[in-house]
Amino acid sequence: MAYLSPSILTADFADLKTQLKKLEEGGADFVHLDVMDGSFVPNITFGQPVVRSIAKATSLPLDVHLMIVRPELCLEEFALPQTEFIVVHEEACLHLHRTVQQIKALGKKAGVALNPATSLSVLDYILPELDMVLLMSVNPGFGGQKFIETSWQKIRELDALRKAKNPDMLIELDGGVNLNNAAALKEAGVDVFVAGNAVFSAEDMAERVREFQRILK
Ligand code: DX5
Ligand code: ZN
Repeated sequence: MAYLSPSILTADFADLKTQLKKLEEGGADFVHLDVMDGSFVPNITFGQPVVRSIAKATSLPLDVHLMIVRPELCLEEFALPQTEFIVVHEEACLHLHRTVQQIKALGKKAGVALNPATSLSVLDYILPELDMVLLMSVNPGFGGQKFIETSWQKIRELDALRKAKNPDMLIELDGGVNLNNAAALKEAGVDVFVAGNAVFSAEDMAERVREFQRILK
C-alpha cells in the first residue's frame, strides 16, 4: 500500500480552497505542506496561520514538512487535530532525538527528512524511534526540479535498513516524482509519494491524482 501526498508548493495560493477540493475529489491520501523560512532554504512559503486555514478548508490529513531552522520552537502550533505527520530536517535540528520525542509527545507521527547529500548514517541511533523518513530527491526549496538519480540507491539502502530495524517505518520521497517514475520508486521501497508539479501542472488535477493512485494502490 502506497500513499499520495500532493504538495501545494506549486499551487495558486490565492485559490487554495478550490485546489484542495480537487485533491480530495481525486482521492489523495494526505496534503503535503512545505513550510519554508528563507533561512534553512532559500525560499519563504507560509507558516502557522496559513496551515491553520488549510486545516479548516480540507478534510485531508496534513503532512507537514518543516524546512525551517529550530523547528522545536514551534512544533505545537503545527500539531493540529488534522496533522498526521510532522517532519523535521536532520540538518536543522541540534537535538534530533529530543525533537522527535517532542513530536510524539504532541500525539503526532514523527518524520525526519534528509537532504540529498546527507548520509543515511545520521539515522543510526534514531531509526527505531521514527514513524517516517523523508528522503529529498531534489535540494529543498523549490518545486519542479529534476530528480537526483543517486536517490535510487539511497531508497534501496533505507528500505533494507528499515526492514532490519523498524519494519513499520514509512519511506517518503519528495522531489521530482512523476507518473513515469512512480511505479519503479514504489518497487524500490517508497511508501509516501510527494508530488507537486506533477499534480498541479495538470489540466485536470483530480484526474492526475487518480492516475497516480492507479499506480500506487
Ligand atoms: C521541495 C519541497 C517539495 C516540492 C516537490 O523543497 O519539499 O515538497 O514541492 O515538488 P515537485 O514534486 O514539483 O518536485
Ligand atoms: Zn516537501
